[in-house]
Amino acid sequence: MNRSTQQKAAHVTTRRLLDMKQNGEKIAMLTAYDYTMARILDRAGVDVLLVGDSASNVFAGHSTTLPITIEEMIYHAKAVVRGVHDESGRAMVVIDMPFMSYQLSSEEALRNAGKIMKEHECDAVKLEGGRVIADTVKRITDVGIPVMGHLGLMPQSIYKYGSYRVRAQEEREAEQLLEDAKIIEEAGAFAIVLEKIPSALAVEVTRSLTIPTIGIGAGVACDGQVLVINDILGLNREFHPRFVRQYADLNTVIEDAARQYVEDVREANFPSPEESY
Ligand code: KIV
Repeated sequence: MNRSTQQKAAHVTTRRLLDMKQNGEKIAMLTAYDYTMARILDRAGVDVLLVGDSASNVFAGHSTTLPITIEEMIYHAKAVVRGVHDESGRAMVVIDMPFMSYQLSSEEALRNAGKIMKEHECDAVKLEGGRVIADTVKRITDVGIPVMGHLGLMPQSIYKYGSYRVRAQEEREAEQLLEDAKIIEEAGAFAIVLEKIPSALAVEVTRSLTIPTIGIGAGVACDGQVLVINDILGLNREFHPRFVRQYADLNTVIEDAARQYVEDVREANFPSPEESY
């Protein structure tokens, strides 16, 4: 690790996120899957970079997050950690534990969480689930590995839900989610992602917890927000859910640049004498 002492001091830690909640400072989190993007996002001041298993969708082209493997997550995570270390070293890097890398037993979950921490030098792992994974969260945090929880719409359970609709709209599911959030906090998690739930419920969960909530489609009251980087950059023309704010249209920028390049090559306008040896 080549962070200077000064850079290390600025590195976002679990303690810092807790302080941010207490001080009412919002936490900005984005996904990242590669070295170049991690450097740009760290430079931009993003507090937390999530190496999301959404890499399965946006990087590998699968229709769900389920197919991505632990080895593939390790590949993405190493690149992101390298990017942050080579930039300011400020952003916290959290790695999603992929489907079936933590559900079988607490022991296997601990082994895989340890493998992720050892191989990546990342800051934390993220697991989806409530009371069902509470023992696992406790086991992992007990050995010193920080865990971020994930409740509401949990993409690894998409086949159980049958759709990506908003979760916890009915009272029973909302009560269960609030209870699950408390259980996961009690088990030792340092933050919880709340995905696609009613804003009013996110307010209640955020007020009930000491640890920060990070929302995605959960309203402005959460202690922080997370979005998938490809979505905010407008890299996927077909995907426009209500909770995404698109900050750029890179799809058009990239397509135009590539078209121009193709034209230049075909017309022998590239390379010029200045671009040749
Ligand atoms: O995998 C992912 O990108 C996520 C975020 C959407 C929270 O879990």
